[in-house]
Amino acid sequence: MRSHYCGQVNRDHLAQTVTLCGWAHRRRDHGGVIFIDLRDREGLVQVVCDPQHAATFATAETIRSEFVLKITGRVRARPDGTENPNLPTGAIEVIADEIEILNPSLTPPFQLDDENLSENIRLTYRYLDLRRPPMQANMRLRYKVAKAMRDFLDTNGFIELETPMLTRSTPEGARDYLVPSRIHAGMFFALPQSPQLFKQLLMVAGFDRYFQITKCFRDEDLRADRQPEFTQVDIETSFMSEAEITGMVEAMIRDMFKRVQGVDLPDPFPRMTYADAMARYGSDKPDMRVNLELTELTDVMREVEFKVFREAANLKDGRVACLRVPKGGELSRKDIDDLTEFAKIYGAKGLAYIKVNELAKGMEGLQSPIVKFLPEAAIKETLSRCGAQDGDIVFFGADRAKIVNDTLGALRVKIGHERGHAVKEWKPLWVVDFPMFEYDDQADRWVALHHPFTAPMLGHEDMLTSDPGKALSRAYDLVLNGWEVGGGSVRIHQEAVQSKVFRALKISPEEAQEKFGFLLDALQYGAPPHGGLAFGLDRLVALMAGAESIRDVIAFPKTQRANDLMTQAPNTVSEAQLKELHIRLRQVEVKTQS
Ligand code: AMO
Ligand code: AMP
Repeated sequence: MRSHYCGQVNRDHLAQTVTLCGWAHRRRDHGGVIFIDLRDREGLVQVVCDPQHAATFATAETIRSEFVLKITGRVRARPDGTENPNLPTGAIEVIADEIEILNPSLTPPFQLDDENLSENIRLTYRYLDLRRPPMQANMRLRYKVAKAMRDFLDTNGFIELETPMLTRSTPEGARDYLVPSRIHAGMFFALPQSPQLFKQLLMVAGFDRYFQITKCFRDEDLRADRQPEFTQVDIETSFMSEAEITGMVEAMIRDMFKRVQGVDLPDPFPRMTYADAMARYGSDKPDMRVNLELTELTDVMREVEFKVFREAANLKDGRVACLRVPKGGELSRKDIDDLTEFAKIYGAKGLAYIKVNELAKGMEGLQSPIVKFLPEAAIKETLSRCGAQDGDIVFFGADRAKIVNDTLGALRVKIGHERGHAVKEWKPLWVVDFPMFEYDDQADRWVALHHPFTAPMLGHEDMLTSDPGKALSRAYDLVLNGWEVGGGSVRIHQEAVQSKVFRALKISPEEAQEKFGFLLDALQYGAPPHGGLAFGLDRLVALMAGAESIRDVIAFPKTQRANDLMTQAPNTVSEAQLKELHIRLRQVEVKTQS
């Protein structure tokens, strides 16, 4: 139907006749002449309709936003002074000879170039939202990122294999999406939280290098970087150490960044232990663009008069730490109140601080609601440890370590970006030496920090049962600009070690057999040493696109409330469908989505 894409017509086509197809982005009547910006996936071109072509002009007058048009005309240079340097086609325009309306459009519910659209309306009319150039760019970027990684893996001997969508649940830690079975009354499939167990079985099966770009499903609380269904670039290898695995996949990420964005990432990526990351940044996914750090004060505060600090310092899982903000003395009372409210989001009960006005004046030079409760020695030690200078502010966190880390970690990132303590660079980081387990207070037992198939660090096998809290694992996460973009581990390939981990997790042999008997069996038929990881494709693309949320790089995402505003899923189904699935709903109140 067409000779060129709208966005690709340029000076090379001067005096040529072109046929273009696309959407009427905008129509402007300029005293007798009508301008139509015609848009397709490659961009916009200006079409001019002259009243001298009476028929064409009459058609042009009926055109409204988003009509689908086929236009034939001659390319000419725009008159002097009317070029648009911001548009790739800005030097030319097309004089319309013929205009055919291929399809009219209802008035769109929003202006496609409106920059302040509500997300709800965008998601309700996602097919219109996706027409917008920034969304078109995001989807293409997503394709290029996936393609670059697929090419790299292909070149390196990986083959892509599919694993089932209807399966048993794998214990990734989130809630499962369940699918009722019609044939087996009362039984359910689970949608995979990841292909974890299947990819391990593919290693037992001898495929050696597997990958898959695949959907994963997790029914968890959603955030900007979490969707109920999301895409992993899932990788597993045999006979490779963690250094070899992480080395290979970071080469893949470097190659992808270079090919897609022309960016050179550091080689190698820096590494940090989990313990260091928590101590210095209060997070296992530290944003390394921010050059602020936490300072440990637990030991300093064990005997001080100030009860909040003393009690936290003496808790078994307590922590007292501070965050020094250079030049933060400028912060007003109101700023500090706002930051305190922010801290409360993370469970902090408050946000103590010291403003360092003039160190030379000793205690007189400090401004703070808490110094009167602290011995001079503790204050001196605090200021010297964090390197405080005149004009700084020092914020304190004292509570259970988790709350202190969450609060000061989040404050560090917020203040760091808002007050210019961050660089504008890509900052990848491997976080390594994760603990095997963390204690779940509610369930009153140890749970796997990664997943229960993660191998313990060599030499830590006995600790699995004797001192589970101390055992470290062979897991690794890749963090990019403060987002966890990938994670994986070397797996357990020996049944005896696997059983030990289950024992530590209080999973009985019967329960283990019932849940993952197939894996335990497979481990006994010559399972090779193996390991791998998975990247969150949505997160990688969102970072590269500069998007605030992964929803902006997913064609048809769910809302924060896990529904689809366009198709109105989830929805109720007929009695007959339920009956076939052997499901009888008790009187449930069907809550309409807001
Ligand atoms: P993990 O659970 O860490 O590991 O997931 C791997 C990566 O997937 C991304 N991700 C998500 N992205 C969007 N929405 C979500 N709800 C979501 N959850 C996770 C993250 C994360 O780093 N089977 C293991 C991998 C392995 O051990 O090989 C796994 O799934 O970027
Ligand atoms: P995760 O480890 O994926 O559960 O993410 C924890 C991170 O989520 C924290 O470090 C915070 O940055 C962020 N976070 C947690 N709670 C909130 C909240 N209430 N509002 C905004 N961000 C939050």
